[in-house]
Amino acid sequence: MDRLPSGGVARLLLSALLLPLRVGSAACPCQDPTLCNPITTTRDFEILVFDVGGKTWKFYNWTQITTVATFGKYDPELMCYAHSKGSRVVLKGEVSVKAIVDPAVRAAWINQKVELAKTQYMDGINIDIEQEVNKFSAEYYALTALVKETTEAFHKEIPGSQVTFDVAWSPECIDGRCYNYTGIADSCDFVFVMSYDEQSQVWSECIARANAPYNQTLAGYDNYIRLGINPKKLVMGVPWYGYDYTCLDLSKDHVCSISKTPFRGAPCSDAAGRQVPYKKIMNQENSSLSGILWDEEQKAPFLEYKDSHGAFHQVWFDDPRSISLKAAYAKDRALRGVGMWNADCLDYSGSSVAQEQTQAMWEALKPN
Ligand SMILES: *[C@@H]1O[C@H](CO)[C@@H](O)[C@H](O)[C@H]1NC(C)=O
Ligand SMILES: *[C@@H]1O[C@H](CO)[C@@H](O)[C@H](O)[C@H]1NC(C)=O
Ligand SMILES: *[C@@H]1O[C@H](CO)[C@@H](O)[C@H](O)[C@H]1NC(C)=O
Ligand SMILES: *[C@@H]1O[C@H](CO)[C@@H](O)[C@H](O)[C@H]1NC(C)=O
Repeated sequence: MDRLPSGGVARLLLSALLLPLRVGSAACPCQDPTLCNPITTTRDFEILVFDVGGKTWKFYNWTQITTVATFGKYDPELMCYAHSKGSRVVLKGEVSVKAIVDPAVRAAWINQKVELAKTQYMDGINIDIEQEVNKFSAEYYALTALVKETTEAFHKEIPGSQVTFDVAWSPECIDGRCYNYTGIADSCDFVFVMSYDEQSQVWSECIARANAPYNQTLAGYDNYIRLGINPKKLVMGVPWYGYDYTCLDLSKDHVCSISKTPFRGAPCSDAAGRQVPYKKIMNQENSSLSGILWDEEQKAPFLEYKDSHGAFHQVWFDDPRSISLKAAYAKDRALRGVGMWNADCLDYSGSSVAQEQTQAMWEALKPN
């Protein structure tokens, strides 16, 4: 801070009075102050990355990233670095849908997020609301209004900013999320389709299955597009994590029956399993009973192991092979891009095995 010139006290008082208006002008934390400017360029193919905190972002493949949604603690160093690579950095937006039925609450929430984004020199917001909403309820209309009003406010206040919304793998009231999907997609820059947790509601046989089977994933996009949503409003989300299920029984032909864990009305769910990052699964390969197997029907890899208590487990996940198949569809269908939950699931430790494995996962996002 410079020494106060004459009249400094008066200025101090004045700036104290103006304080609420000045939150947006916190000192730029970047060495090069131009890096605090919002990103205004767009690239043809979006690669949206979810960062959940820590410092592994330093090892991401930044030549591919167009946007980082920061779901961990705000890290100014990440913001400066992303901007130096021409990548946007966006906030996480989460709010109770019941609360935002009140337009005043909605307006206050939006205002607070815009101010926060400005203070932190960020480029938008990714709205992640995974709450149950009934069709044509007050919450249903309020949610569409929230997305529309948030987009308008961000675009006006932060030129070039991006507002996106996370949706389930299919628009068919998955997990009780009956939203106005066309209205939401129309009102924001694009929706991020969470093409994972696709076994969250199982009504058929209660067995372990892939997190994101190929056909089921594609059917979700067909459903969104059939509703009239432009493929350019859809970014495909792929999982960089899998599910580890304890089998009640594991048959010779790899059918793992699992305990009935209900979820939002369905009798059986992936909630019976445990989410595991890709790096951890890859470390289990050598100690597994099976090695990595491939299920041709679901086009997904899996492995089986016995735990220290003697129980059998089946682990379903995605790898470069299953992800490239889906990324190829994203390209053929001319979707807006791809992204993953989440970028910190890979092994960035730098050993040669880890490096190769991690590079292949980033590479798989890029359809050839
Ligand atoms: C969805 O939202 C749009 C935009 O607000 C509106 O025009 C449309 O009628 C809504 N559709 C349904 C089915 O509610
Ligand atoms: C698994 O075994 C192979 C072959 O011995 C070895 O190259 C690889 O590093 C091992 N992987 C891990 C995670 O230990
Ligand atoms: C997947 O979809 C394709 C094309 O619709 C179909 O031919 C194939 O039988 C499906 N596979 C499975 C396992 O459902
Ligand atoms: C990052 O991705 C680009 C484009 O796919 C690729 O050419 C490059 O080798 C990757 N870099 C690393 C360090 O993996």
